[in-house]
Amino acid sequence: MSLKKNLHELSQKIEDLSPKEGLAFLSDLFYGKLVFSTSLGQEDQVITHIIAENTLPVKIFSLDTGRLFPETLELLARTEKRYKTKIKVYYPERQSVEKLVDNIGINGFYESVENRKSCCQVRKVEPLQRALSRNSVWITGLRAAQSPNRLAMKKIEWDEANQIIKYNPLLDWSFEQMINYINENNIPYNPLHDKGFISIGCAPCTRAIQAGEDPRAGRWWWEESKKECGLHAK
Ligand code: ADX
Ligand code: SF4
Repeated sequence: MSLKKNLHELSQKIEDLSPKEGLAFLSDLFYGKLVFSTSLGQEDQVITHIIAENTLPVKIFSLDTGRLFPETLELLARTEKRYKTKIKVYYPERQSVEKLVDNIGINGFYESVENRKSCCQVRKVEPLQRALSRNSVWITGLRAAQSPNRLAMKKIEWDEANQIIKYNPLLDWSFEQMINYINENNIPYNPLHDKGFISIGCAPCTRAIQAGEDPRAGRWWWEESKKECGLHAK
């Protein structure tokens, strides 16, 4: 089927399905062509759990930017063990990273939004493009409540940048719903979450937040930008 053309129909079919049902439905329809990107965040751990517990034919991958927290990588190893599954890790191109660091310096992303975006481009966006190529469905852990930008997203979308169907099964889940699910199912999670970190990305670009702060306030906290890295460009 033409991917983009049948999106509306697909969207209607999937809207009221639970994440498990939606993932199973798409797995049948696009067998072997589904990939799930995990940052090892809480949302992503819920989705990994659903995929693994139901042995759904979805390939799981993570983008190791080279600047992640050690706790995140440790969780990746722990998750593979717990679910007896493999998470494929993609890395940035060596030459691009060397050129980037030559140009902006090792922590040059603090100096301008432009520098920050070029770092995210090299360390995340380009590896993502490689991970998504030749697949039909990209599954993410995006939740609408995470940011105003994400409120406008749909469970099923067309990702123009990567020419792929994007499925966000937890889009309408609340934070509490996600935490309850993690606790009830004893899902492994990043210990940084218990130290005030809500949304976790690269170590130099993430800090803990205070009670009452916006959930994404700890990401690129020095910027006034939309706080998106380009993975989920609109
Ligand atoms: S980001 O755009 O700000 O970095 P966020 O951390 O909220 O994204 O994560 C949203 C979704 O993007 C995750 O659920 C996951 O699907 C994907 N994602 C983000 N970072 C990574 C990563 N390093 N590796 C794989 N997927 C990622
Ligand atoms: Fe670079 Fe920070 Fe983006 Fe990570 S989040 S890729 S360190 S700018």
